[in-house]
Amino acid sequence: MKKLGVIFGGKSTEHDVSIVSGLSVIKNLNKEKYEITPIYMSKDGDWFLYTKDIKQIETIEVGEQLTELQKIDNPFEVLKGLDVVFPVLHGLYGEDGTIQGMLELLNIPYVGCKVLSSSICMDKAYAKMLLEKAGINQADFVFIKAENTEPNKFIYIDENLNFNYDETIENICDKAISKLGLPVFVKPSNSGSSVGITKVSQKENLPNAILNAVQFDNKILIEKGINAREIECSVLGNYKPESSCVGEVIPAEEFYDFNAKYHNSASKIIIPAQIDEELSNEIRKMAIKAYEALDCKGLARIDFLVDKNTNKVYLSEINTMPGFTSISMYPQLWEKCGKPYSKLLDELIENA
Ligand SMILES: Nc1ncnc2c1ncn2[C@@H]1O[C@H](COP(=O)(O)OP(=O)(O)O)[C@@H](O)[C@H]1O
Ligand SMILES: [Mg+2]
Repeated sequence: MKKLGVIFGGKSTEHDVSIVSGLSVIKNLNKEKYEITPIYMSKDGDWFLYTKDIKQIETIEVGEQLTELQKIDNPFEVLKGLDVVFPVLHGLYGEDGTIQGMLELLNIPYVGCKVLSSSICMDKAYAKMLLEKAGINQADFVFIKAENTEPNKFIYIDENLNFNYDETIENICDKAISKLGLPVFVKPSNSGSSVGITKVSQKENLPNAILNAVQFDNKILIEKGINAREIECSVLGNYKPESSCVGEVIPAEEFYDFNAKYHNSASKIIIPAQIDEELSNEIRKMAIKAYEALDCKGLARIDFLVDKNTNKVYLSEINTMPGFTSISMYPQLWEKCGKPYSKLLDELIENA
């Protein structure tokens, strides 16, 4: 039996989602093959053993909190006793290379991307720059930084990465709208689960959208809004990775915001996406290319926007630890390709 640690919760805004993903992974793991240690990390970064009987672990609703926790005094001690770790953590301090770096230092194999690819994929602005180098089509954007020290002083970073200091928010808004038009999506460069993202259709709403995003990250993207269908593809593997069939997300709200993702049951996932084969193949090829270009290992879910009028494909983002609930897109796409959830988990752990 392999000694497997499953870590969930974590310090990011996606803490609650990670709990549901982590419990779902535990529920679907083959209990004959793994001796499982469920490890919960609180929002403050404290570590706990989840002491509930493994066979009784069921998933909960997003937002429900766990009981039956026992504080771990020395997390290193617990981790060092494991053969492999599955960090089912979304967002900062989980999907961004930090926990990966810690596990590297401790010589513990883990599921998923390594340090560099985790941190690049977490940061939308930097991921975009590298994907552009790979010739992958993406929505145009403007990249700014907020000066922490001075209110209303922003840095406008141009296409050649020149820093223009002391820009006011009014200047930034003018530049963004003249380059991108409207609508735009304003997002923290490090975001997930749509936290801090606003769709802006009227110029007067842009400053507040920027100030909202600044609460989550000092790097902000203002991205051209695409009138698009949302298509997602799962990629799996280390050497010669494979892509799954593609799925479509139909958000029940104006866009796929936090509420539409986790609280509005009218949002739908359609697998396989009802698009023609040629388009689906184009997306699958782009998914593999992006995965390779950003040095991904293990797994990633690659999300696309497909223009409703022209069918032009835009890569939207790469998630190196996508949602893992039993109704999440990543495991469901593989299920449709003939890889049931528990076999998928075996493969991920094997690749670690
Ligand atoms: N450029 C865009 N055009 C159209 N819709 C977008 C655009 N960017 C984001 N969205 C919408 O916002 C949602 C969240 O954005 P995304 O970049 O995927 O951030 P997150 O990492 O938080 O999931 C998307 O699923 C989509 O509904
Ligand atoms: Mg997304």
